[in-house]
Amino acid sequence: MKKDMITNVTEYEAIAKEKLPKMVYDFYASGAEDQWTLKENRNAFSRILFQPRILIDVSKIDLTTTVMGFKISMPIMIAPTAMQKMAHPEGELATARAASAAGTIMTLSSTATSSVEEVASTGPGIRFFQLYVLKDRNVVAQVVRRAEKAGFKAITLTVDSPILGRREADIKNRFTLPPNLVLKNFEGLDLGKLNKVCDYIATFHYWYEILKSDEFFHYWSSYCYNCCYFLFEITFQTSDSFAASYAAELYDRSLNWKDIKWIQTITSLPILLKGVLTPEDTMIAIQAGAAGIIVSNHGARQLDYVPATIMALEEVVKATQGRIPVFLDGGIRRGTDVFKALALGAAGVFIGRPVVFSLAADGEAGVRKVLQMLRDEFELTMALSGCRSLKEITRDHVLTEWDRPR
Ligand code: FNR
Repeated sequence: MKKDMITNVTEYEAIAKEKLPKMVYDFYASGAEDQWTLKENRNAFSRILFQPRILIDVSKIDLTTTVMGFKISMPIMIAPTAMQKMAHPEGELATARAASAAGTIMTLSSTATSSVEEVASTGPGIRFFQLYVLKDRNVVAQVVRRAEKAGFKAITLTVDSPILGRREADIKNRFTLPPNLVLKNFEGLDLGKLNKVCDYIATFHYWYEILKSDEFFHYWSSYCYNCCYFLFEITFQTSDSFAASYAAELYDRSLNWKDIKWIQTITSLPILLKGVLTPEDTMIAIQAGAAGIIVSNHGARQLDYVPATIMALEEVVKATQGRIPVFLDGGIRRGTDVFKALALGAAGVFIGRPVVFSLAADGEAGVRKVLQMLRDEFELTMALSGCRSLKEITRDHVLTEWDRPR
């Protein structure tokens, strides 16, 4: 498939697969363990059908909405995905430009390969900063303050990842961040052992690439390289991927509801909780002061056999009783998916993999096209359902398998 023949979002994946090293493609594509939730995130959308209304004047359709007080062009936003420079040299900077051109929100990952300042320097745009809470609270406070200073408008606190899910492809591939890249938001901050080991690995990768070009040194360099890898594994006592080792070493597994209050003391930005799946947690989140909820299963990369997000959405929305907005991510690939999520009560949706795959295929132009295609499909779905504004999208426009026959 050539990139100018692309007619829908999903088609970018095949191009990305062809272009990217296997280790990188697998990191982006895979889910946890049996990947049941990964498939279910998509399949569940196909079990929701439309009940379109006819003979409504749809000559003018308004897709705009307001999220956290900011007016955006459509209810389709960008979820945080780690390490985008593995997909394209421009990485998160290209994504930021594409989001801003589309008039929508980009969420930058904590574990991005571009810093909050670099992303801010791409120009105006509404951006959220995704936060993983590390054991070292000073580091967390510094990063959050930097994001706030750089003009980010909200903190998206990821609450489903005290430990990284088991992504077997990454374990098999011994996934590691390519040596020319760094996790820019933590660059220069004291991350102790991990930073040192990463520096060693990067140095050895570097020398290995130089030495292996010489026949004579080839044997010795690969010997040396393997030794270093061995040392790396001993250091972490694991044969896991870099991402899993990184998380195990740095993330604070003790993170709990009380910490939301602590985050509120280091920032005045609104805090969205990303990774809520139950009405019970929704109610606690509201009491804890969350400004919004993102129904998410982390793109099926954490706990396998949790329901598809679209299946969990409605109960979460009901539990909020309209007090805070609920967003959804997971498996959004079509404008019809966006419509279904809104009909079940979401205030907007976020996309993850479509961004990294289109970025790999065609950089900023790819991400722009993904946003444009989703926008066009969503507008078409609204027109064919008889809806002229987001407010006109109602629960009656869809029929789910848990609805009684009407
Ligand atoms: C993610 N996701 C994620 N979430 C987060 O809070 N911080 C992060 O750094 C990342 N990184 C990340 C990398 C990759 C490669 C993927 C695929 C996902 C989860 C992401 O924000 C979002 O929840 C899902 O990607 C949404 O599902 P789809 O759109 O990928 O199906």
